[in-house]
Amino acid sequence: MMKIRIINGPNLNLLGKRETGIYGNQTLEAIMQAAVEHGRKAGIEVEWVQHNDEGAIVTAIQESRGKVDGLVLNPAAYTHTSVAIRDALQAVAIPCVEVHLSNIHAREGFRQTSLTAPACIGQISGFGAASYRLGIDALAGQMKKNG
Ligand code: DQA
Repeated sequence: MMKIRIINGPNLNLLGKRETGIYGNQTLEAIMQAAVEHGRKAGIEVEWVQHNDEGAIVTAIQESRGKVDGLVLNPAAYTHTSVAIRDALQAVAIPCVEVHLSNIHAREGFRQTSLTAPACIGQISGFGAASYRLGIDALAGQMKKNG
């Protein structure tokens, strides 16, 4: 069975309470439950974590080596700043799809650059909670193509 780990970055634990006009009313738990269920229906095991610390995200990426087939990553604010997360993705070489709830390209200038996306297969941005499900589908499609 294909196994995917979703890694969520800082402040995503506050979804449902945080800037709901941008990020919606659903909690992270609800969004992740829907993603796990989406995977289950497609025969994919989906597990998820959330970390506020950059180093914890780096460690979660490193520890994914040999344990999962692919990553869906929402690095949140670290998207725009983190060389360490980009390097970790390149180091483990696990196929990764970057996802964002909001369309980062339609927001403030500082959000329009992703340091992490170049280390991913691609990026899905702007579809709210569905970005995670689309990320799972993109990863699964890519893995079928290559496997
Ligand atoms: C986000 C976009 C980031 O710019 C922001 O810092 C976040 C969430 C998104 O999912 O839309 O925390 O990654």
